Amino acid sequence: MYYHRLGHIPPKRHTQFRQPDGSLYKEELVSSEGFSGIYSTLYHIHPPTRIKALKEPVKFGPAKIENYALQQTHLNTSKVTTTGNDFLEARKTLWMNADCAISICSPRKRSMDYFYKNAEGDEVLFVHDGKGVLISPYGKLEIRQGDYVVIPRTVIYKLEFEEGPLRLLIIESTSPIETVKRYRNQLGQLLEHSPYCERDIRPPSELITDTTKGDFLLKIKKQGYLHQYVYDYSPLDLVGWDGFLWPYAFSIHDFEPITGRIHQPPPVHQTFQAHNFVICSFVPRLFDYHPLAIPAPYNHSNIDSDEVLYYAEGNFMSRRGIERGSFTLHPGGLPHGPHPGTVEKSIGAKETHELAVMIDTFRPLFLTTDALEFLDKNYPMSWTDNAGETFNEINTP
Ligand SMILES: [Fe+2]
Repeated sequence: MYYHRLGHIPPKRHTQFRQPDGSLYKEELVSSEGFSGIYSTLYHIHPPTRIKALKEPVKFGPAKIENYALQQTHLNTSKVTTTGNDFLEARKTLWMNADCAISICSPRKRSMDYFYKNAEGDEVLFVHDGKGVLISPYGKLEIRQGDYVVIPRTVIYKLEFEEGPLRLLIIESTSPIETVKRYRNQLGQLLEHSPYCERDIRPPSELITDTTKGDFLLKIKKQGYLHQYVYDYSPLDLVGWDGFLWPYAFSIHDFEPITGRIHQPPPVHQTFQAHNFVICSFVPRLFDYHPLAIPAPYNHSNIDSDEVLYYAEGNFMSRRGIERGSFTLHPGGLPHGPHPGTVEKSIGAKETHELAVMIDTFRPLFLTTDALEFLDKNYPMSWTDNAGETFNEINTP
């Protein structure tokens, strides 16, 4: 990340910074990884510690399935139009482990009448369908179709979406979501060979300083519960902030693909890193250009990871059973690869128009009970039957 600031801040940190009435603004340091990670300094009108009421916590979260058989798995969520009433009710977690949780979310309501924060994880919202704004104390952040919206833990926020289709893929991470280390120099700047750079990262653009009094409900997610706090002032009470820690958007459409003469391995698609998992973007690109190149991927044994692929756009309808909004999980311990006939049919293809998000985890994922309604029971056998074979444009691993 890089340094950014909005609003008014004093010239020197940890010094007197006074409001028009002579009282001090309330400084808050938001630091990650103790005092070793990135941080920001916030200036509030009210003490961020002051609460009006604590309501009863509400149980919240998925139930994992422990005895799911080792098998290639396809979850078809393409028919989903809504998954619940509001942003939190609509979160359906499909896979999870100790490092991350992967959910879909298509709320009926387009705005939230409460604030929310995830106290135990960073969140990445991939906006498959939707357009709107993320509102947080750091300011307004415009959200567009195709954005990854990265929200560090403890950022208080609410979302407002416009009418129209709304489909979010949500990845929660127990460790910080970071840009890819090998693409950064020793001072953190993204290097020339990075598929994206700082210009592609969009920070909050407009600070909101809300001096409204009243009851403001904040739902805080932690350890299987939503903890409900009531404040008598708006959480959007900042007059300024600066630092490296802030929510941002990065569009998958700004990811510049890395291509080669022969098949490039999945790390060229890597977009983010976190502890024990990575997020990759498969975007429209030219296929391999060696005269004997095979655009379809080789069979692959991912001996250390589970691979989840979310199919966003492209001509993958030709792949058996896969539709826009499908997920596949190719677990570690089994080889996976192209469907029968697709390797020969891929030869000579010049480009792909696919758009997909991959989450590779280095510890096994558990399916949740919420996922069962989307399970395609025929998928594990889909490499066996040749019927109806056509070239699958999805060139993902
Ligand atoms: Fe793979």
